[in-house]
Amino acid sequence: MRSILVVNGPNLNMLGVREPEVYGSETLADIESRLSELALELDLQLEFVQSNYEGDLITKIHEAYATKDGIVINPGAFTHYSYALRDALSSVALPAVEVHLSNIYKREEFRHHSVTAPVVLGQISGLGSYGYELALMALVRYFEEKGE
Ligand code: DQA
Repeated sequence: MRSILVVNGPNLNMLGVREPEVYGSETLADIESRLSELALELDLQLEFVQSNYEGDLITKIHEAYATKDGIVINPGAFTHYSYALRDALSSVALPAVEVHLSNIYKREEFRHHSVTAPVVLGQISGLGSYGYELALMALVRYFEEKGE
């Protein structure tokens, strides 16, 4: 069974409360429980992590090296400026999919640039929490195509 680390960055613990018109009314726990159900169907093992601290996220990504098969990550605002997170993702070189609940390209200018996008397989932006489900499906497809 393949193992995926699902990472959520700063402020995503506030989902449900935080700007529901932008991020929806589901909590992170709601999203994680739906992903757990999907993981059963997709035969994936998931580990969830959320942190508001850059270093914690980096350490978790490092720990994924040699223990996980892939990463789904919503880096929150770190998307736009954390070269350290980007370097962590490229260091472990695991297939990763970047997810944003909101369409970052429709929002403020500072959100239009992702420093992490160049080191991931692909990015899903603006499809709400469905983006996380699509990210898991995309990783499964990636493993199949690689013949793993
Ligand atoms: C976000 C978009 C980021 O710009 C923002 O800082 C977030 C959430 C999203 O999921 O849409 O925290 O990553």
